Amino acid sequence: MTTTKTLSIEPARWQVGDEGELYAPLYDAVYANLSGVWGRAQSVFVEGCELPSRWQRDRCIRLLETGFGLGINFLTTWASIKASDSIARLQYVAIEKHPFTAQDLRSALQASVATAPASITPVLEGLIEQLIAQWPPLIPGFHSLPLDDQTTLTLVFGDVDSVLPSIHGRFDAFYLDGFAPDRNPAMWSLQTMQHLARLAADSAIASSGCGEDSVKRTLQSVGFEVSKRECFGEKPESLSVKCTEKFLDSATRVESVVVIGAGIAGASIARQLATRGISVTLIERDQPASGASGNPVAVVRPEPGGATNVIAEFSAAGVGWLQRWLTTHGKSVPHDFCGAVRLLRDQRRHDKLAAYAQTVPDEWLHEVSVSEATMLCGQSVATEGFFLPRAGWVDPTAFIATLIDHPLIKLKSGTEVKQLSPNATEGWCVELANHEKIFSRYVALATAFADLSSSVDGVDSARGQLSVVTERVDKPLRAIVCRDGYVTPAINGVHTIGATIQIDDDAKPRSEDDLENFHRLQRLLPDFVSDANELRSGRVSWRATTQDRLPLVGKIAEGLYASIGHGSRGVTCAPWCAEFLVTQMLDEPLPIGSEWIERLHPLRFSK
Ligand SMILES: Cc1cc2nc3c(=O)[nH]c(=O)nc-3n(C[C@H](O)[C@H](O)[C@H](O)COP(=O)(O)OP(=O)(O)OC[C@H]3O[C@@H](n4cnc5c(N)ncnc54)[C@H](O)[C@@H]3O)c2cc1C
Ligand SMILES: C[S@@+](CC[C@H](N)C(=O)[O-])C[C@H]1O[C@@H](n2cnc3c(N)ncnc32)[C@H](O)[C@@H]1O
Repeated sequence: MTTTKTLSIEPARWQVGDEGELYAPLYDAVYANLSGVWGRAQSVFVEGCELPSRWQRDRCIRLLETGFGLGINFLTTWASIKASDSIARLQYVAIEKHPFTAQDLRSALQASVATAPASITPVLEGLIEQLIAQWPPLIPGFHSLPLDDQTTLTLVFGDVDSVLPSIHGRFDAFYLDGFAPDRNPAMWSLQTMQHLARLAADSAIASSGCGEDSVKRTLQSVGFEVSKRECFGEKPESLSVKCTEKFLDSATRVESVVVIGAGIAGASIARQLATRGISVTLIERDQPASGASGNPVAVVRPEPGGATNVIAEFSAAGVGWLQRWLTTHGKSVPHDFCGAVRLLRDQRRHDKLAAYAQTVPDEWLHEVSVSEATMLCGQSVATEGFFLPRAGWVDPTAFIATLIDHPLIKLKSGTEVKQLSPNATEGWCVELANHEKIFSRYVALATAFADLSSSVDGVDSARGQLSVVTERVDKPLRAIVCRDGYVTPAINGVHTIGATIQIDDDAKPRSEDDLENFHRLQRLLPDFVSDANELRSGRVSWRATTQDRLPLVGKIAEGLYASIGHGSRGVTCAPWCAEFLVTQMLDEPLPIGSEWIERLHPLRFSK
């Protein structure tokens, strides 16, 4: 179904000007003059914020940029930390109203990298490809990119006025790089600067290529000390800005954490901590992936929906993070982002989604007729629907094994935690079944259910059974097909069909559940399997569910955190939730808007 879309994010437009400059017609301004653009980024921004010395001194540099543009400042900063031998972390958040499409970004950066000093060109070319490989779809909101173990880039697509209020965190450095104030007043307004002051950490520093007096005065009025400095290139004057007041403390220091539960939630938390140089003791009563995370395959799909649909926003964050993480670290994890056809549920919902689909790029979601859906997945589907090109599947057990394969993660399996209690001097006492006690200032619960914390309410249990059917060589299925259940392409010779939802604790697979899954399959692909007896029982496990279908993630008490209640999409979303939890624990910028602290709060159902 081809129609012209009106996207809610208008992509950047660019042209190469007469003198080779990259021109932005939307603003009648220049993104970058080709000569000297990389040197300017280094001189005005990286050195302006004194980052080369901070790489050596700080454990984490939290940086906020207004105006990501082509990412020249970002790429220069990333190259600088990589060249520094520092083990510091870079948490770079950048706001952008008109992001480039991946294709345009590559072309524009290739044009500008051609003018970079030869000594840094190969490095920049490599970093550009890494950035493009993780570039998100142009949909509004937060997109966190785990680019490597040292650097995370969080892109926030939207207008500076609307997104700044929801940015949460403390920042050590700011790059102010909107176009000139007369072209673009919102980027330099008093309101914008007040937000920057709110977000500034102790001894935060900012730099700007714009040396105008009006900008200087606005910055001073919100409490920054401003001086002009000599800089590189044809714009020799830039602003150097320092906090004059002591605002907030710098990043919290955490040396070690005990994580309880080695399913996808616990393994992901352990990995995000270890990546930051923090030692983890991961305690598991059985083996890693022995709970719901041990299913042979998990479907990873965003729940499509508009701006006000919280499940859609949450699942988009989860899918995006997971896909990007696997792009960089997942070579040994069987997975495939083959896309999913999501069939019509009811007409009212379909019409709502169709309207939403008109506002997002096809690479994220598009409406498909019965014949288009059939062509995409290779088999006759029951109804029309939508195609989700970024959906796919992953092998959760292999994923967990990869996550915990890190020298800073010590796994204690076959060890049950019996009790967790506060301890006056040591923080938390973790008591094991063999009466051994482990003391830790920081503990993260990833036990699916809330058994170890009496203060957390609201997690229930729902049994689920999968069924499988042998690969049909004569009927290749190329994409996932889903609605209220799903069928996967053949993986290791079988298609998986999921899943029942029941409230009981029977661990044995049941033939009547396979029949239920057969009917589920018939509603998706009526001609795929004609005999219910061809289905065999798959694994049985339990989802930890909540009333609002969102997990409980965040801080329970001083030093005690949780990531539980992941329901039916834990494999998709728990890895991102781990980043959300760890950024809270370490006072780093959140990978999403601050409203999500309350939305996912682990005590939100507790009286
Ligand atoms: C049938 C079914 C199909 C599903 N399909 C999908 C899908 O397609 N896509 C998707 O994204 N999600 C899917 N899910 C959901 C997903 O599997 C779960 O949300 C996810 O696995 C939960 O991960 P977890 O780490 O929170 O919990 P678990 O995997 O249950 O891990 C918790 C771990 O904590 C350990 N533990 C608990 N208490 C203690 C203790 N006291 N001491 C030590 N260790 C302890 C347990 O042994 C367990 O290993 C499905 C779920 C089911 C049931
Ligand atoms: C000079 S360019 C930034 C160059 C960039 N820092 C780099 O290193 O490539 C300014 C950017 O600010 C963005 N921008 C302008 N007004 C904005 C607004 N109100 N909200 C968010 N972004 C805006 C523009 O789309 C543009 O990409």
